[in-house]
Amino acid sequence: MLVVGASGCVGTAAVQIAVHAGARVTAVCGPRGVDLVRDLGAAEVVDRTAEDVTARRDRYDVVLDVAGASSYRRCRHLLTDDGVYLVTVPSPAILWRTLWTSRRTRGRRGVVAFTGLRSEAQKSEDLRTALRLGVEGALRPVVDTAYPLEEIAAAHRHVEHGHKAGTVVVTFA
Ligand SMILES: NC(=O)c1ccc[n+]([C@@H]2O[C@H](COP(=O)([O-])OP(=O)(O)OC[C@H]3O[C@@H](n4cnc5c(N)ncnc54)[C@H](OP(=O)(O)O)[C@@H]3O)[C@@H](O)[C@H]2O)c1
Repeated sequence: MLVVGASGCVGTAAVQIAVHAGARVTAVCGPRGVDLVRDLGAAEVVDRTAEDVTARRDRYDVVLDVAGASSYRRCRHLLTDDGVYLVTVPSPAILWRTLWTSRRTRGRRGVVAFTGLRSEAQKSEDLRTALRLGVEGALRPVVDTAYPLEEIAAAHRHVEHGHKAGTVVVTFA
């Protein structure tokens, strides 16, 4: 599995869950995140400022672009025949492809699968799974910075710059 944007909130969780599920993970992040992501279990870490991973000839069963830094067109050659390309923020091109391929029975098909569209029962099960992985030590929360509620504006500014390691937490007194 290839994870692009591996040092952020979604990326650090994705790397750990994939490793726990038995995947061999190649993680892409900026230079500051390399040690963190390796520590989370990635088998290989690529510094995005030193290498453009889309220029590789390797193939992956899953490409997850958390950063929205790639595109399906640029990653297609990285996928195995049954490979899956995942993005957290669908671009107009992805949404168009989803519509265009929705009735396809062969080849790669676009699917929209927002967490918010899952049933309450499914989301409860997801949370129970996350809790179990946390208790077992397989899923470690990575906290960049904790802000008290009074500093919520600063917390938002921190998140919006797009380069945090893990997540930002807001605490209540
Ligand atoms: N967090 C959530 O619960 C959630 C839920 C649904 C959707 N989303 C969406 O998912 C996306 C990621 O969320 P996040 O909370 O994980 O963000 P984040 O914590 O800010 O992480 C962003 C990651 O992208 C990397 N990055 C930034 N520019 C890049 C580039 N040009 N190439 C490769 N990597 C790059 C950053 O690494 P460097 O610091 O090394 O640059 C960082 O690891 C956002 O668009 C968000 O709206 C988030």
